[in-house]
Order: sequence, then structure tokens, then C-alpha cells
Amino acid sequence: MAAYDPEKEIPRHIAIIMDGNGRWAKARDLPRREGHRAGADSVEAALETCGEIGVEYLTLYAFSSENWKRPEAEVTALMGLLAHFLKEKTPTLMKNNIRLQVIGQVERLPASNRRALQKTITTTAGNDGLTLVVALSYGSREEILGATRKLMQAAIDGEIKPEELTAERFSDSLDTAGMPDPDLLIRTSGEYRVSNFLLWQISYAEIYITKDYWPDFGRDQLLEAVADYQGRQRRFGGI
Ligand code: IPE
Ligand code: IPE
Ligand code: MG
Repeated sequence: MAAYDPEKEIPRHIAIIMDGNGRWAKARDLPRREGHRAGADSVEAALETCGEIGVEYLTLYAFSSENWKRPEAEVTALMGLLAHFLKEKTPTLMKNNIRLQVIGQVERLPASNRRALQKTITTTAGNDGLTLVVALSYGSREEILGATRKLMQAAIDGEIKPEELTAERFSDSLDTAGMPDPDLLIRTSGEYRVSNFLLWQISYAEIYITKDYWPDFGRDQLLEAVADYQGRQRRFGGI
């Protein structure tokens, strides 16, 4: 296995499907929420490591549109952890020059979470190091539908003609407007699926799947994923 090389290309944007908190807890006879709690430490490690190696964007899939189907107690525990994270870590984000952004149907979150998010987004807005993008109540199909609705309305209002619609304009209508597409998509816990995450944006992302559960995915594991990325030949359909 090749080692991470700071001289080689670093992915500008890493997106992570942070899966396996429940299985991590189950393996230890712990309640699922303890897995989510342990997962928060991996978030911190990922932030530190991405900042250290010069990644520009880190997008973390924290809660999907479909995760609302989970038992209410688990959803409440996850929202509580989000509130705790924002309260505890905003000074760390400031210290490390990290800017927070969110994607997803944030309006579906409890009001207290929305307020806490807005506060941290505003506080960190001027930071120009790593951008941390948290996907909350996020579903790619919902995002694509939302963009399509906006564009249809723009067409009805005479602001754009159907034939004028470009991939760039479409990208700019998504929640991820202004962000580069992910170069590297990581999924922990060994599942070979994308679970409604960034379907448009990952068209040419390099995919890395590891069996490690998210709470076991630390600095070394992230550097290993980047090393693997550095060994890939990206072709974008060319030769
Ligand atoms: C990922 O871990 C965290 C969220 C989806 C919120 P899971 O809770 O999906 O853990 P597993 O897949 O059941 O192990
Ligand atoms: C994907 O994990 C969503 C997040 C990591 C937030 P899930 O555990 O919800 O995905 P499935 O159900 O295994 O596809
Ligand atoms: Mg899961």
C-alpha cells in the first residue's frame, strides 16, 4: 500500500458517507447513540487531517432525508449530538480557520438546531481555510428536484429559455452552488452504495470504500484513502 505523499496531488474536495456507527456500537454491546457519539471524534480527526494536508472542501453526510425514518429516540440523539458539536467546536473551527456550510433540507430540522447552525455559519463565514460542508436532512434526488423547480420557475418567468440551460447553470441551482465537485468519495463500513448522496456532483469522483466503521476511521485511515487516490489515474473519459 503506497503512503500518502504531500508532493502529489491532494483532492480539493473530499466527500464522506460516514456509515457504521450503529454496527460499531453493536459490536461493543453499546446503544447506537454511543456509536454516533464516538463518530463525532472521527469528524474532528477528519477536520484536522484535511486542514493539515490542504484539502479545500470536506463534505460530511451526517443525516439523510431517509434517516427521518429511524426511531424518534435515535433522531433526537443525533440532533442533540449536532447541537453539542456546534456548541463545543465552534471555537475550534475559528482557531483552525474553518468555514461551516450546510446542504440539505435544513428547514426540516428542529428550530434550536437551525439557530445553532446559523450562528456557527455566520461566525465562521469569514474563515478562508478548509470549508466544512455538513449534509443534513440531505437527499440528492430532493436537491435535484428543488433545482429543477427553481429553473422551471425561471423559465416561466422568462429569465431563461430551456435551450439556454447548461450544466454550469444547473450546478449553480443545487445546494452545492459554488463548490467544486468532490474528487474523492469515501464510504466507511463496506457498503457499496451511494444512498442518495451527491448524485450529480460525484459524476467523476474517485470512490474509496473501506470496511472500517466510521468511529474507527481516524487520521491514518484518511491518509490511506488519500494515498489510494494519489495512485489513481483520472481520465474523465479521455485516454
Ligand atoms: C451512520 O451510521 C450515521 C448515520 C446514518 C446518521 P449508521 O447509524 O447508519 O450505522 P449502521 O449503518 O447502522 O452501522
Ligand atoms: C447513509 O447511511 C447516510 C449517512 C451516512 C448520513 P445510511 O446508513 O442511512 O445508508 P443505508 O441505509 O445503509 O443505505
Ligand atoms: Mg448505516
